[in-house]
Amino acid sequence: MSATPRSVARALTSTFRPRRVTTTRSTVGKRGVVRTRAASSLTLTRPDDWHLHVRDASKLGDVVPFTSATFKRALIMPNLTPPVRTAEEAGKYRDLIAAAAPASDGFEPHMTLYLTDNTTVEQVEAAHASGFVRGYKLYPAGATTNSEYGVTDVAKAQKAIEKIAELGMVLQVHGEVTHANVDVFDREAKFIKEVLIPLLDRAPELRVVMEHITTRDAAEFVAAAPENIAATVTPQHMLFNRNALFKGGIRPHFYCLPILKREEHREAVLAAASSGNKKFFLGTDSAPHPKGAKEAACGCAGIFSAHAALPFYAMAFESVGALDKLEGFASHNGADFYRLPRNTETVTLEKKAWKVPDEYKFGDSVVVPFYAGEEVPWTVAA
Ligand code: NCD
Ligand code: ZN
Repeated sequence: MSATPRSVARALTSTFRPRRVTTTRSTVGKRGVVRTRAASSLTLTRPDDWHLHVRDASKLGDVVPFTSATFKRALIMPNLTPPVRTAEEAGKYRDLIAAAAPASDGFEPHMTLYLTDNTTVEQVEAAHASGFVRGYKLYPAGATTNSEYGVTDVAKAQKAIEKIAELGMVLQVHGEVTHANVDVFDREAKFIKEVLIPLLDRAPELRVVMEHITTRDAAEFVAAAPENIAATVTPQHMLFNRNALFKGGIRPHFYCLPILKREEHREAVLAAASSGNKKFFLGTDSAPHPKGAKEAACGCAGIFSAHAALPFYAMAFESVGALDKLEGFASHNGADFYRLPRNTETVTLEKKAWKVPDEYKFGDSVVVPFYAGEEVPWTVAA
């Protein structure tokens, strides 16, 4: 079974009228646990997705409309084959993405370029001059999908990084070391100590987003760091711990990088994101792969969540009685960090359950979405 984004959007069209009023009330019960009476609807400033994969021209038409239906802007990841390395390449890619969104969505793709050992100062200057490139993505070579062009040693990219800092652009960091002798669950914490702290010692003004944080270590590091350091958080790292990967057998659709972590880390990441701290903001890391590339002897990393991104975040925030913090996280903090105006439109979430399809069309294949075949309690009103 497959469905197009538009038909799904139609199926989800609400009969409710958007309301500003919510029925959320929190009370602190015994043992300090916050209880929240269920909200029926929630209206917030239209959000942005500051970490999104939409893939190449053959597939992006099937996924972009999911994001553009809800989000005003998205920061598009550059890990295509070959990667998007120059402002010129990013401009062409951006035009394709913008054309894939219905015009009525008014969707704006913003771009980040793929940092390599060979990125030149002149390329950084051209990227800055483009007006639509927000920064550079640092993928340690070998860390994740299509990262073989990535930086082998940050010292090699030092000149480019200094220019990024000088121009006030942002370095988006995939924060994992890749040495074979480091346990896959420890790679983020090790990256902070071995790569990120020394990098910031050399370039203290550098504006950094630690992408898709997954550990208490990262949440604490970012919270304690100066203003120029922020983080994005995905829905999966707030909703699931690593047990999800092995529940009753191996579960490739829960496999992403950085990999899901222990429960204590999930709790810490969720607490940070829902705390109201401006350093944490929404970046889905929605990363679609064809079904066969996930359900394979060597399955790809990446979870597709664009079909219900905002409902997933609402589920996570609601689980800790923090729906009142969702708007800051989803719609204000990222725009403020990127020094862009906050959006002026609104979107409304309604407490209205729907069943996620088993799969969606994806190029000449299908993609299995996050929560496939399961119920999601929140719906974005059309
Ligand atoms: C991403 C992808 O598939 O492009 N995969 C993932 O598991 N997150 C790459 C990335 O962001 O690491
Ligand atoms: Zn990603």
